Amino acid sequence: MAEDPQERIAALRAEINRHNIAYHTNDAPEIPDIEFDLLVRELRELEERHPELVDAESPTQGVGSATSATFAPVTHAVPMMSLDNAMDVDELQAWGERVSRGLDGEPARFICELKIDGLAMSLRYERGALVTAATRGDGRTGEDVTANVRTISDIPHQIEGAPPVFEVRGEVYMPVSAFDAYNQAATEAGERTLVNPRNAAAGSLRQKDSAVTARRSLAFWAYDVGEVSGDAGTDIAAADHMAMLTTIEQLGLPVNPAIRTVDTIDDVFEFCQHWADHRHDLDYDIDGVVVKVDSADQRRRLGFTSRAPRWAIAFKFPPEERTTRLVDIQVSVGRTGRATPFAVLEPVFVGGSTVSMATLHNQDQVRLKDVRPGDVVVVRKAGDVIPEVVGPVLSERPADSKPWDFPSLCPCSLLSTLVRVDGEADTRCVEAACPFQRDQRIIYWATRGAMDIEGLGERTVAQLTAAGLVSDVADLYRLDVDMVEALEGFARISAEKLISAIDASRSQPAWRVLTGFGIKHLGPSASQSLAVAFGNVRAVLSATDVERDKVDGVGSVISASIAAWFDMESNRELVDRLEANGVRLDVVDPALIPDETIAATLDGHVVVITGNVPGYTRDGAKAAVVARGGTSPGSVSKSTTVLVVGEGAGASKLTKAEQLGVPQIDADAFETLLETGEIPPS
Ligand code: IVH
Repeated sequence: MAEDPQERIAALRAEINRHNIAYHTNDAPEIPDIEFDLLVRELRELEERHPELVDAESPTQGVGSATSATFAPVTHAVPMMSLDNAMDVDELQAWGERVSRGLDGEPARFICELKIDGLAMSLRYERGALVTAATRGDGRTGEDVTANVRTISDIPHQIEGAPPVFEVRGEVYMPVSAFDAYNQAATEAGERTLVNPRNAAAGSLRQKDSAVTARRSLAFWAYDVGEVSGDAGTDIAAADHMAMLTTIEQLGLPVNPAIRTVDTIDDVFEFCQHWADHRHDLDYDIDGVVVKVDSADQRRRLGFTSRAPRWAIAFKFPPEERTTRLVDIQVSVGRTGRATPFAVLEPVFVGGSTVSMATLHNQDQVRLKDVRPGDVVVVRKAGDVIPEVVGPVLSERPADSKPWDFPSLCPCSLLSTLVRVDGEADTRCVEAACPFQRDQRIIYWATRGAMDIEGLGERTVAQLTAAGLVSDVADLYRLDVDMVEALEGFARISAEKLISAIDASRSQPAWRVLTGFGIKHLGPSASQSLAVAFGNVRAVLSATDVERDKVDGVGSVISASIAAWFDMESNRELVDRLEANGVRLDVVDPALIPDETIAATLDGHVVVITGNVPGYTRDGAKAAVVARGGTSPGSVSKSTTVLVVGEGAGASKLTKAEQLGVPQIDADAFETLLETGEIPPS
């Protein structure tokens, strides 16, 4: 594709300008950042190869985009610069070498900070009072969003001990927990959800009514200063970076704690890798790491290019959003009959793996997002979360595309009707004999969180049911090696392995059997509490609601759901047949019983754990509580004694604990809790 460079440059400039306006002015980016960065890179490379075509108006020459007409313009006393990017370790090394050359080989100390994915903001304090808050805009002129920024509780309106003129710069962001809460409420109300926290923060700051901004729970991290005047100011502006951050923090502005000082690029890269792996442990989005030379003197010597400092670089994480073609929309049916629409995609590498399918959640989400077969769509895969379609790139929609309609029939061979009950978000297949539901129930029984039968995955289950060998989980226990070996793809040895894994599952603890039934609302945690309280599966199933309700972590919803399940003849028969086929219903999990050899420091304590506690697996941390006489249900309630908040803690548990006044401790205090049974002050 030998396009004329002049034409390609013009096309790239037009496209980049359009995306700049969409992103900076309208807060409605159409494409993920990475794809934008790639366009800018291509343009910059072409301009480098063809210097005769460079133009002062080219988007490569400026920062971001101009402002919109809604907010008054603010001229920045000191321009707000952008940063150059490093996409991989080689580019990071190359930057390190440029720095070293710029300093004639003198060693530099680097400060590594998180690159917060929010909106750059300049806060101007005069004689200690917040007078202006302005966005970056094009770097020289931003927008006056003071009224809205005043609603951000992290940002003081008044600070003591500051120089007469003191500009602090940093990032306004929306915490992920606030973003999730907003989207959950929007989904329940049938309203359009926000695309991502950055967008949400940008949109919130552009509200004409500050009361709306106030409700969006925005927050702020400071990382730089702008204009600083007066005696005290000279010190701050001339200080090394770390010293400057310390001063900013002492003046009462929030500075992100995840900062590290290092001496080599190898250590910089280690910091980058650590946070690339742990980015989802934080309650805010980060899209990379910003590396800055610490010494003020070295910074002066390195100076700036036309758009960015030479003394800093942004190391960008691999993208979690990419665009690709949506080939088709299909529907899958889960074990409860829920029909979930999903996108069949042209494979795309995103969030660390190749994705060819992504969820579309439910009928309303497809309609609200208006994604259609044939669209180019933005796909997001963040951490362990299932890949999802964020939305279509409307400018690339084929002219003949049509909205997608939810099918009225189940895709299974029975072609039963799909039903959507009024007021519910989900569409369901209500045919009890639906083969999809049957297969999914068997797959769920075998999963790690339930009976943990290795080798019994989706494909094997489909083969077993298609061959008529298995029609429910009790049938698994009537299989033998010959039957399995007769299936396609099975050798004697793999058939033996599967049979022995199934056989071993006969003596799994009672809570795993309970979980494996897939009773609505009944997860592993409540199953464990019930198994401990009642001792065996039958006793749990035949207890009264009142008896079950007394168990910690089991409410009336779970209890009623168990009753409804056991009320069905077919389920009672299933339990009988499991037992007849040798599945034990009374095995006690040793990890759930107090250990006589350990002091019962937590007798009577109800310790809920959220997130990871270093040094423990999820089950291990619970077992440590139980061994000491405590219980550890999966949810916070009135009776919770303490909430242990580990890395990547769930926002809902924190909120609940705050509402109920349940004390919280961090993971470091967990050991003390185990040893003494006392709740250390947090
Ligand atoms: S320093 C002159 N530090 O990233 C250097 N920027 O891609 C000014 N950002 O415009 C920026 N976290 O909006 C700096 N710890 C951090 C940052 C950070 C996020 C943003 C900022 C900047 C953009 C550049």
